[in-house]
Amino acid sequence: MSHPRPDLPPIHSGSEGGLATGSSPGYRIRRVSAIHDLESISALQASIWGSVEVAAPASLLKAMAAAGGITLLAEVGGRPVGFAYGFTGRTPAGVLYHRSHAAGVLAEVRDSGVGRALKLAQRRQALAQGLNRMVWTFDPGQARNAHFNLHRLGGVARTFHRDHYGQRRDALNSLGSTDRLVVEWFLAKEESRALANLRQHPAETVRIPDTVAQPSPQGAVARRTLRRDLERAFARGLTAVDYDSQTRSYWFAELPSSFPARVE
Ligand SMILES: CC(C)(COP(=O)(O)OP(=O)(O)OC[C@H]1O[C@@H](n2cnc3c(N)ncnc32)[C@H](O)[C@@H]1OP(=O)(O)O)[C@@H](O)C(=O)NCCC(=O)NCCS
Repeated sequence: MSHPRPDLPPIHSGSEGGLATGSSPGYRIRRVSAIHDLESISALQASIWGSVEVAAPASLLKAMAAAGGITLLAEVGGRPVGFAYGFTGRTPAGVLYHRSHAAGVLAEVRDSGVGRALKLAQRRQALAQGLNRMVWTFDPGQARNAHFNLHRLGGVARTFHRDHYGQRRDALNSLGSTDRLVVEWFLAKEESRALANLRQHPAETVRIPDTVAQPSPQGAVARRTLRRDLERAFARGLTAVDYDSQTRSYWFAELPSSFPARVE
């Protein structure tokens, strides 16, 4: 890893005008619902994704916040630098969970723990709503996000979607395809403990090819290879339970049958 970082940044719970807050030296995370804060989230998303089209409009965020969604803003010295937002989801079997749609941190502030602090704040808010699973999607070719979601946070993935959002071109999807893994982050202790054991011995590994991000025929081959390897592992009933940055590899294992059914 490029920079050593303290383990789990502290987030101190607090309350401000009925809205839960969290802070740590250097940055502050607030749950927001005022329109100007939601406009900041929308602007941040447009800036991080390099496209106004993918940014959620403030009016949608307002409806989400009013309906019990979790809309979080991270600030440094009062300046918006990161966000996360999501809403309550429901599995076909009727189990409720928190569906996190997007989280982002300005490039110049990345790798200082703000992203993880946002996820931990989301986790705390979801648990307070009685939800013990958080779900979101990410591009399996992005090594950084794989490390962040599966290794740092401890999420797992057992569903893969080809071109989940169709063909899209923005700063984070410059290659056009939108393949996605669905991350399920179990927030309760029992499942976290069971997963910690499974992470010791992978039944299979899937490597992210080095050229996956290249806008070239070689890159296209690499993306197809990754797609095929992930689909094969999932077809065997395996779950991605970890990611190893050294080998750029997803680690797969078989979840116990007692584990909650996947969300989708
Ligand atoms: C994902 C994101 C929110 C993380 O925010 P952040 O503030 O940088 O997160 P943190 O500082 O808490 O942690 C980032 C981790 O990724 C690691 N990382 C950074 N670059 C990496 C790379 N090239 N390969 C592997 N890991 C990498 C960091 O070292 C850190 O892990 P560590 O604590 O084990 O060292 C941020 O990268 C981002 O905004 N990305 C663009 C938007 C996006 O992809 N959002 C997620 C999909 S909705």
